[in-house]
Amino acid sequence: MTSAAKSISVVNTVANLAAHLDPVHADGLTVGFVPTMGALHDGHASLIDASVASTDVTVVSIFVNPLQFVPGEDLNVYPRDIDGDVARCAAHGAAVVFAPSVNAIYPKGLPLEGIDAAKIDPGEVAQPLEGRERPTHFIGVAEVITRLFTAMGPCRAFFGEKDFQQLQVVRHLVAELNMPIAVVGCPTVRESDGLAWSSRNVHLNDRERATAPVLYRALQAAAAAVAEPGWDRMAVEATMSTMIEAELAGPVDYAAVVDPLTLLPPEDPRPGDELRLLVACQFGEARLIDNVGAVAG
Ligand code: PAF
Repeated sequence: MTSAAKSISVVNTVANLAAHLDPVHADGLTVGFVPTMGALHDGHASLIDASVASTDVTVVSIFVNPLQFVPGEDLNVYPRDIDGDVARCAAHGAAVVFAPSVNAIYPKGLPLEGIDAAKIDPGEVAQPLEGRERPTHFIGVAEVITRLFTAMGPCRAFFGEKDFQQLQVVRHLVAELNMPIAVVGCPTVRESDGLAWSSRNVHLNDRERATAPVLYRALQAAAAAVAEPGWDRMAVEATMSTMIEAELAGPVDYAAVVDPLTLLPPEDPRPGDELRLLVACQFGEARLIDNVGAVAG
């Protein structure tokens, strides 16, 4: 732990979370919230740092949400390290870790039997890209985020741009449901060779780990290409796919140039328009996603 480490409370129920936060709200202090699924890394640490720097009390939630895993995905092997996570939260100055059970978040049981039983609509922005590859994923994210935000009450909530489409889904939810939450998007944190930090990186073997930075190289090349006058979306997407597939020996799930608000192909992009470039692919046991912002030339 660093010198920033201080005592931290670990709570497991919504009632105990409220017992911590009610006096904070009553005193007019600000609350920061960093929702996570644990296995915390430098990317999460940067979100905690951003929250601690701009709010009075930071809460980190650690909850592996079964509802957002599509059948056949890595729910059972998702990395877990609650002791290490709590130590990291304390070292970065968080005041509370909220680590609920599945029952605490879904008191009536998981609406898994029919994902249709989930009640929250993640919106149109959830449809393309990840929504097409993992059809029920954002339904599960919307459900858990709504429950976590309800438990938290008014706060600033910090999300990494690494999960850019998730960030836009959360922004949609907050606007649609008039939630008293200020959503703050924070830059992706990368390892020295450009690979974005992800809890799933631990599933990469040595060879996969050595080749995985090709995702970021492809995104950077694409960002340079769209900045040129006369760029062509399909050609840029094809170049990204080719670069990644040369290392991967398999197809990418997608390599896309989109409008950052809709996550759809930009309609009639003009020079100076903001774009988002996103890629996703399976690297051995790990499914990796990454993205960067770009400006049209
Ligand atoms: O990004 C994540 O870790 C999860 O999707 C989140 C936002 C904590 C919801 O379970």
